[in-house]
Amino acid sequence: MTIVTKNIQKAGNELNRGHVIAIPTETVYGLAASIYNENAIEAIFKIKERPNNNPLIVHIKSINQLTDIATNIPESALKLANHFWPGPLTLILKKQSKISNLITAGKNTVAVRVPDHPITQELLNYIDYPIAAPSANPFGSISPTCSKHVLDYFNDKIKLILDGGNCTKGIESTIIGFENETPILFRHGALSINNIEKIVGPVKIITNDNHTPDAPGMFSRHYAPKTKAYLVDNVTEHLKSVNEKKIGILSFNNAISTHNKNIQFVLSPKGDYNEAAKNLYDYLHQLDKLNLDLILIEKLPDFNLGKSINDRLIRAVTEI
Ligand code: TXA
Ligand code: MG
Repeated sequence: MTIVTKNIQKAGNELNRGHVIAIPTETVYGLAASIYNENAIEAIFKIKERPNNNPLIVHIKSINQLTDIATNIPESALKLANHFWPGPLTLILKKQSKISNLITAGKNTVAVRVPDHPITQELLNYIDYPIAAPSANPFGSISPTCSKHVLDYFNDKIKLILDGGNCTKGIESTIIGFENETPILFRHGALSINNIEKIVGPVKIITNDNHTPDAPGMFSRHYAPKTKAYLVDNVTEHLKSVNEKKIGILSFNNAISTHNKNIQFVLSPKGDYNEAAKNLYDYLHQLDKLNLDLILIEKLPDFNLGKSINDRLIRAVTEI
């Protein structure tokens, strides 16, 4: 039986014993293990059924631990770290040689961030070593934003879930790498590009044309519900032509008029992007459990965090 607890010492002791546990962060829950225990790191990949060519993020307790993990740190990376940590920003930096190749999938770079969650901060202080943690979902499925989501996925497969309530951000961290001093977007996420550009100037966005395999987060398909789902510009229009009987509808701020057999979720009735991000995965989890024939999702305005949410949705469903 997997234990769900708020007890930080218990969680820390499991990590000390080399076990994998789930931890809360402000973005999504993570599957964590000591960065210094290779067996435990291997176990993360196994439990998640994640291909081992997809590297993990190292979570440190503060910027003071950064030089233990990374070296040759660009000035603009330090600026971003100083400004946004703790918070939903992951930096890709040259790794210190002691960082396991299992964590970095053999790359000479490492992903690192300081999570902004009081319980995980306490945990990191208690154990006093960094942890590696991918999102706590089986590879390819919707990320978890509360302990119940994690339990549904991994009951009996992990020792313990450290319960920190609902994630306040609700989508993964934004990932930034560097070409000398130029920041490059590796994954859209909970920190908007606008906010990053205010601190370090223009961020280079990789597109299909200048695609590098160094940024899997920009190209892979994941976060998918099991139910057939479409991402459309206008749900009302699309409803005119669908034959499916039981339909779930997910939209940004406007309720869509439809017959009441259909189930409808509005991400943020007041049109707040932060609230929409916070609800996104939870509503997708809920819709996915209703045995629907189809989920129709309306694209958000491609603005601010709307961009990150659309990016997640494009990967999760078929775009039409
Ligand atoms: O918000 C988050 O970032 C959450 C919480 C738990 O911190 N973690 C998370 O981890 O989303 P994961 O493993 O689901 O996604 C990590 C992403 C993957 O797309 C991986 O390819 C990329 O980070 N990544 C990790 N190390 C990298 C590296 N050295 N170079 C390029 N991409 C890297
Ligand atoms: Mg993930």
